[in-house]
Amino acid sequence: MSKRILVTSALPYANGPIHLGHLAGAYLPADIFVRYHRLKGSDVIYICGSDEHGVPIMLRARKEGVSPQVVVDRYHELNKQSFADFGMSFDYYGRTSSPVHHETSQEFFRTLAEKDEFILKKEKQLYDPEAGIFLADRFVRGTCPVCGYDDAYGDQCEKCGSTLSPKELKNPRSAITNATPEYKETVHWYLPLSKYQSFLESWIASHSEWKPNVLGQIKSWFSAGLNDRAVTRDLPWGVEIPADIARKYGVESKGKVLYVWFDAPIGYISATKEWAAQKGDKDLWKTYWQDEDTRLIHFIGKDNIVFHCIIFPAMLKAHGHYVLPDNVPSNEFLNLEGNKLSTSRNYAVWLDDYLKKFQPDSLRYVLAGNMPESRDMDFSWKEFQARHNNELADILGNFINRTFTFAHKYFDGKVPAKHTLSDLDKELQKRLELAPETLGALIDRFQFKAYVRELMDIARFANKYFNDKEPWKTRQNEPESCATTIHLCLQTIRHLTVLAAPLIPFSTEKLRVMLQLDELPRWDALNTESLPEGAVLGQPEILFTKIEDADIEREIERLKQALTDSQSEQSQDAVEEIDIDTFAKTKLKVAEIIAAEKIKKSNKLLKLQVQIGNNQRQIVAGIAKQYAPEELIGKKVVVVANLKPAVLRGERSEGMVLAASAESRLSVLFVSDDIPSGSEVR
Ligand code: MF3
Ligand code: ZN
Repeated sequence: MSKRILVTSALPYANGPIHLGHLAGAYLPADIFVRYHRLKGSDVIYICGSDEHGVPIMLRARKEGVSPQVVVDRYHELNKQSFADFGMSFDYYGRTSSPVHHETSQEFFRTLAEKDEFILKKEKQLYDPEAGIFLADRFVRGTCPVCGYDDAYGDQCEKCGSTLSPKELKNPRSAITNATPEYKETVHWYLPLSKYQSFLESWIASHSEWKPNVLGQIKSWFSAGLNDRAVTRDLPWGVEIPADIARKYGVESKGKVLYVWFDAPIGYISATKEWAAQKGDKDLWKTYWQDEDTRLIHFIGKDNIVFHCIIFPAMLKAHGHYVLPDNVPSNEFLNLEGNKLSTSRNYAVWLDDYLKKFQPDSLRYVLAGNMPESRDMDFSWKEFQARHNNELADILGNFINRTFTFAHKYFDGKVPAKHTLSDLDKELQKRLELAPETLGALIDRFQFKAYVRELMDIARFANKYFNDKEPWKTRQNEPESCATTIHLCLQTIRHLTVLAAPLIPFSTEKLRVMLQLDELPRWDALNTESLPEGAVLGQPEILFTKIEDADIEREIERLKQALTDSQSEQSQDAVEEIDIDTFAKTKLKVAEIIAAEKIKKSNKLLKLQVQIGNNQRQIVAGIAKQYAPEELIGKKVVVVANLKPAVLRGERSEGMVLAASAESRLSVLFVSDDIPSGSEVR
């Protein structure tokens, strides 16, 4: 007997609706996988839920002037509903504000504390004296030390993409009150990941079957070396740390919560507990989480890799009673009409909105056929329309419809008999025989694109078979051949109903009714059973009607508008006027680059040594993605010479190199050779 399977999809934050990027990354592939395994008769459960903590949820609530609970209640319901309407077949959809979750994650924390797995660190952190709270990185705004953008977050600059720490920001201010933050002492619990590194490395080494994009990221974390990770935060929203533990360490527990990335993955466990309780078998969750015969599979997007492949496994290992993930099939990102998806700029296709206009199966089909399995992929509405019309409607739908219509018209709505087989008949039969095995293996290997392709190939072959066999002709002179053709077409539809059920479950449910089956045949029974001769067929129903150009144009237009809107917002930012004196304060000088090297642990930053007149300086510049160090040496550039020095990735930076940027493109402003270094730029 094969192992039981526990499948999870990343818990989406309950601070916004689900969009196509989510679906293609962590949800649809998992649902296909789970539905397939149910048809195989595997012991499988599928767990998900809302991630209801974290600073962005607090920020959103503050902006709306409501409590965080109001925000998460709204999006929990919305997302749960649109997932259901999209056919996501979770066995349980939990939420991290539930009492069971609070208890479970506190218990987890307590166990680790009692096993002495944490270290406590006293440190000074930014504090908003007006609001009286410590400021999470996201709550600090200020000027980016890399590009000078004056509204960068404490953890990241949205303009230049640099990863920052709040300490690096110039003129930091509180995003809540605008007050200048102060440093104040606080205490936090840290999980010393370095302690688990060698264990994790050998565990990962035993999983060479994992996707290369996942292994690649993990290895770069290992080679950078794992650091201590804070697992608590000073925030008013989240799972409070257990008071008894805090007391033991002489720390005030009030206002201290578990870091969202500590409690959220434990949400998988809490949701499984709630599922078990609902089934009336309270302890059943333990078999799935603690019995070695479980395969735990986390479906996620690539921004979640470190949490699921390093941190959560380290937590599970530290706890000691849990199985570790057997695989983490992470997907890359989905772009939209050639641009990066952006929720803050409303450049996204939202699931709830989609479902008001189109059917779920079309999106499931197109997204799975275009899944970002090994590299980023693009979703375009034109392609969506084309694949719906040309494949779902014209191939699959057409084949089914003509077969049913024919059977009703000439065979009294019953499955006709099968007679002697021609070569072409045999070829079709052979294909059907091989399909369950082939397609199943692809799903098991997380190769969803190939599964979709092979599946549609069967329908395409069958549609052509119908043409080539010309049953409308053979009906007159070769009735046996005609009967055989329609018989085999109906058997093909039976196969397709099961083989496509993980992908387009709403349509295959209609097919099941059309074939008058009480339930779907098991995946593995496809070849051992068949539709009996004489079986009565239901009425055919059109599965896919064509999508009109106008319906697509409207969507494309909306996205274009979202782009224009956000661009004009940006250019409005840019028109604030300054006087010449303000500008003159910026000392721009020509500098010659005399040495350049990459900075370890950063794929964006280069460390440059520049000569400005008689002065030599070091500048760290975020240009490593666009320029190789060698090509810069000897070049002259413009630098801001009177910028306050900053430390980036542990390297001192005394100035800034000017460059033009657009999306991910970037062009350094070079100065022609005959201008001596040190010259002023005005
Ligand atoms: N909410 C996170 C995100 O959307 C994912 C959390 S996954 C979990 O990126 F494991 F922490 F639950
Ligand atoms: Zn920046």
